[in-house]
Amino acid sequence: MSKVRIIEVGPRDGLQNERTPVPTAAKLEFIRRLRSAGLTEIEVSSFVSPKWVPQLGDIAELWPALPPGGTYSALVPNEKGLERALELSVDRVALFTAASDAFTQKNVNMTVAETLEVFGRVIRTHRAAFPGGHIRGYVSTIFECPFAGPIDAGRVAEVSTALVALGVDEISLGDTTGVGSPRDVRRVLSAVLAAVPVDRVAVHFHDTRGTALANVAAALEMGVTAVDSAAGGLGGCPYAPGAGGNLATDDLVYFLEREGMPTGVDLDELARASEAVFAILGRTTLSHAHIARLAGCGG
Ligand code: HMG
Ligand code: MG
Repeated sequence: MSKVRIIEVGPRDGLQNERTPVPTAAKLEFIRRLRSAGLTEIEVSSFVSPKWVPQLGDIAELWPALPPGGTYSALVPNEKGLERALELSVDRVALFTAASDAFTQKNVNMTVAETLEVFGRVIRTHRAAFPGGHIRGYVSTIFECPFAGPIDAGRVAEVSTALVALGVDEISLGDTTGVGSPRDVRRVLSAVLAAVPVDRVAVHFHDTRGTALANVAAALEMGVTAVDSAAGGLGGCPYAPGAGGNLATDDLVYFLEREGMPTGVDLDELARASEAVFAILGRTTLSHAHIARLAGCGG
């Protein structure tokens, strides 16, 4: 089986939803430890409105201080966000839309069609600045929208195809509220993969109901080789009520290694990375693999 790319989204998706503010220095230490654990691709923050998501309002201080050698990216919602990203020479950006208008209205105050119109301009400007840059396009609510209910797989395929036609390098399919099971994964991926090459598709599962790892297994069986996750299972979405954390990177790493797919990630150092953040947040890890290690339960 080919090597799986792990895209660590803890510093962004993990911290965007936390009530307790995490100081910039602690975020940098978190990212430094993620790097030393062996994670290379890290989504570090967002160029969204600091009024909407104050937790990530320090990106102008964070970005220039990132440890050297990582492949870092940040979310960009619109042209104002792109302007801020270009001021900091951010060559890897992630745009985000959804399969549901009700969700994008709450999340970014636009319909899906409006986001795509904005992205056309954002992509052109970013490509002109960084011809060798990387642009990801998220599609949220691929199974169900917290406001509009079940989502048709054809709609996910339509939005994915539109993003690829606009020129994104990859799409990431998000089960924002963690409702899906492998049957949903097969249904939606079959529709998307009929239109988008599998090497341009990543999966992004929230683990709200404990199904994220099963969903990853189903996606891998369909040929997907890029998976998003967050150290310790940090995460949530401020505009998806009740959305739980992302799939824990620790659990993903354990699973992949056990399945015979080397990751190059050191689980002890990864555990130290999230422990320092959880200490600030006043809670403990959500990762099963980490809890088992703490209990001295082999593995
Ligand atoms: P808006 O209020 O509609 O924006 O927000 P506006 O264009 O009307 O402008 C209002 C003010 O905001 C203006 O300032 C703009 O300059 C400013 P004022 O004139 O009042 O002083 N503004 C900005 N400031 C900084 N950065 C910007 C920006 N844009 C406008 N980029 C906006 C629109 C998109 C900014 C807002 O809705 C927002 O920030 N939303 C946050 C969305 C978010 O971060 N959601 C979570 C990430 S998505 C996610 O978690 C899902 C994912 O993980 C996948 C999955 O799980 O499914 C990716
Ligand atoms: Mg997410």
